[in-house]
Amino acid sequence: EKGTYPHYMLKEIDEQPFVIRNIIQQYQDENGNLKLDASIRQAMQDADRIYIIACGTSYHAGLVGKQFIEKLAGIPVEVHIASEFSYNMPLLSQKPLFIFISQSGETADSRAVLVQVKKLGHKALTITNVPGSTLSREADYTLPLYAGPEIAVASTKAYTAQLAVLAILAVDTAIAKGLRPDFDLLKELGIVANAMETLCDSKEEMKRVADEFLSIHRNAFFIGRGLDFYVCLEGALKLKEISYIQAEGFAAGELKHGPIALIENDTPVIALSTQKRLDLNIRGNVKEVVARGANPCIISMQGMEEVGDRFVIPAVHELLTPLVSVIPLQLISYYAALHRGCDVDKPRNLAKSVTVE
Ligand code: F6R
Repeated sequence: EKGTYPHYMLKEIDEQPFVIRNIIQQYQDENGNLKLDASIRQAMQDADRIYIIACGTSYHAGLVGKQFIEKLAGIPVEVHIASEFSYNMPLLSQKPLFIFISQSGETADSRAVLVQVKKLGHKALTITNVPGSTLSREADYTLPLYAGPEIAVASTKAYTAQLAVLAILAVDTAIAKGLRPDFDLLKELGIVANAMETLCDSKEEMKRVADEFLSIHRNAFFIGRGLDFYVCLEGALKLKEISYIQAEGFAAGELKHGPIALIENDTPVIALSTQKRLDLNIRGNVKEVVARGANPCIISMQGMEEVGDRFVIPAVHELLTPLVSVIPLQLISYYAALHRGCDVDKPRNLAKSVTVE
């Protein structure tokens, strides 16, 4: 039930701090240590390479998950779009582990790959919001998202839950391998939940940003580097699917290799900067688009903000920034869609669960 909320999407955006706190509880033992199925822990340690398979928003979560697993657990990871993987299977490693990320657990494109890899005799883990779903039943292992039902077609809380569970999986594997991560993940996720709450309280401001930057435009660009780039892909997908504005996420360094030709007078460019070592570069890219007439909206992180930034996100651990930086983008999309009179929860041409290939 959406209760007093006008739309499920807004309710589900607001639920994100609670979902993260729930995940912290579910994946914690009585001593405050990470709690994960021993068989999953073993499968992660046995793998010489991980293949993440997903579609849409779940694919975007996979891109961030790759960084978590490679940086923390030291296992190489490839991330593949399910529909491409099924006819373009890469050369596999000796001991691959497949991770399927799917909110619904029913996505046909992902299932087609799962059927294929099971035939080859490989192990598969499904990260899903629906234990008991097809992808969960047909895989060897399941990690639940504990996000509660997601009703709006545009995925919000499932994405941040996927990121949290991927971080838990990465840190758990790191610990099992004797690599000591230099931070306490559960504590850092608690800080993330608090930051999410602050962001969910910034709705009026996000509504103003949407009105200011996206009310009349036909297109909009999101630029970022590193983890911010992946969040830009997700921000652009959110905006295009519910507001029908043509939105694209670009790796900021690629702008000069082509996309900058799209910049016209007043083109909205939303720039994300949450990574200290990349801040100077992304701000340089903002200057380049401004010189071509773009209307820039810089979203930065506490501690790195500069005069003129349109919005500042509370600081969180540098690997976990996607869990918080996506929230302003979700809210901006929501208000842009609302402003344009779109059906926020049921965008045209889309279904919540895509059960055809
Ligand atoms: C976008 C969205 C879709 C899904 C995609 C995969 O907001 O919801 O892109 O992420 O269809 O769905 P699942 O995660 O259920 O496999």
